[in-house]
Amino acid sequence: MIIEPRTRGFICLTSHPKGCEQNVIDQIEYVKSKGTIDGAKKVLVIGASTGFGLASRITSAFGSGASTIGVFFEKPPSEGRPASPGWYNSAAFEKEANKAGLYAKSINGDAFSNEIKKQTLDLIKADLGKIDMVIYSLASPVRTHPDTGVKYKSVLKPIGGKFQNKTVDFHTGVISEVSIEPAQGDDIENTVAVMGGEDWKMWIDALKKEELLSEGFTTIAYSYIGPSLTEAVYRKGTIGRAKDHLESTAFAITDSLKPLNGNAYVSVNKALVTQASSAIPVIPLYISLLYKVMKEEGIHEGCIEQIQRLFQDRLYADNMPTDDQGRIRIDDWEMRDDVQAKVAELWKLATTESLPKIGDLKGYEKDFFNLFGFMVDGVDYDLDVNEMVEIPGLQ
Ligand code: NAI
Ligand code: NA
Repeated sequence: MIIEPRTRGFICLTSHPKGCEQNVIDQIEYVKSKGTIDGAKKVLVIGASTGFGLASRITSAFGSGASTIGVFFEKPPSEGRPASPGWYNSAAFEKEANKAGLYAKSINGDAFSNEIKKQTLDLIKADLGKIDMVIYSLASPVRTHPDTGVKYKSVLKPIGGKFQNKTVDFHTGVISEVSIEPAQGDDIENTVAVMGGEDWKMWIDALKKEELLSEGFTTIAYSYIGPSLTEAVYRKGTIGRAKDHLESTAFAITDSLKPLNGNAYVSVNKALVTQASSAIPVIPLYISLLYKVMKEEGIHEGCIEQIQRLFQDRLYADNMPTDDQGRIRIDDWEMRDDVQAKVAELWKLATTESLPKIGDLKGYEKDFFNLFGFMVDGVDYDLDVNEMVEIPGLQ
């Protein structure tokens, strides 16, 4: 079939298998061009199909020659209906991994559930024995608690007061005022239950209990801080509370890994266009201004550049620098004073009329469509494609 983008609000309902495949191939080529990284050899990636998790899987496999198991929650294709992009990404990843002689298997289902954890543990036992690293890169709006069955929904709200600022609809380029009511009731607890660290710790506890972690085991999860411009809705909002919880969970996990000399880290990454971030108000406008400034400075990075640098210059460097709260900072270029000063200046000037000039709306839009395999260089969208793509090592 011929597949075209169909958008509704902040999401795209279709995705293109060839475009997704090309994205994965481009990321693999990038990692290979940067040389080998002496990293983990048996890696579990939770949230492995898109964004930072996919980039982590690619960097592990093609940077360090790792065997990888990927866990994700994606929609398979049906006749005439394309799969979600992470499905096609994972199919392409496995195809390339197999060609390169690398072990790669995948599990599609709810990572928060006991069933998917058990299935993953069984697969590790059967195929890998012990693992050296777990990358935890889930982004989800909901979580059903495995023990209680309670379904939590995360919200993106400020805390304490109403938030009012500019936002952009990146499809139309129209800037408007957005006003978001503060969190109330259980909003904070619910968001922490979904995006905090409880599930990360559950995974590590379960793996440890079954003795599936090797000596010197490492686990890493991803966080975000960002500038004062977005603070009220992000770091000081409900999602920020979840990130605080995730970050403190790293210390609890490290403690539990003492007998293995293991470590849990949080890496603070750069703001990037992903399915998760396009849904957050204000962030798209910030990103389009940030991209403009970082591209002009020659320091723009996507997920793969971020994660490749995280592995090469931080995780597996001789001396790993962290901030005063023990976090790895790979958002260092985003947070540079000169970069943030320029973004803040542009923010004041941003209107529907000025944005096409002062912001990188085009770059934002291209990145957004790229997430779904559209607008990818080198792909002929007039050609018929088979939507019924299989993931070779899907369990
Ligand atoms: P993403 O939306 O691209 O990836 C989410 C992944 O989680 C996908 O593989 C998806 O299949 C999987 N997933 C979601 N729900 C699941 C479930 N119930 N069971 C199994 N898998 C599930 O998101 P992105 O942006 O890569 O986010 C990953 C992490 O990075 C998050 O913790 C996010 O907060 C963090 N981060 C994101 C930044 C950004 O600007 N996008 C910046 C800094 C950190
Ligand atoms: Na991810």
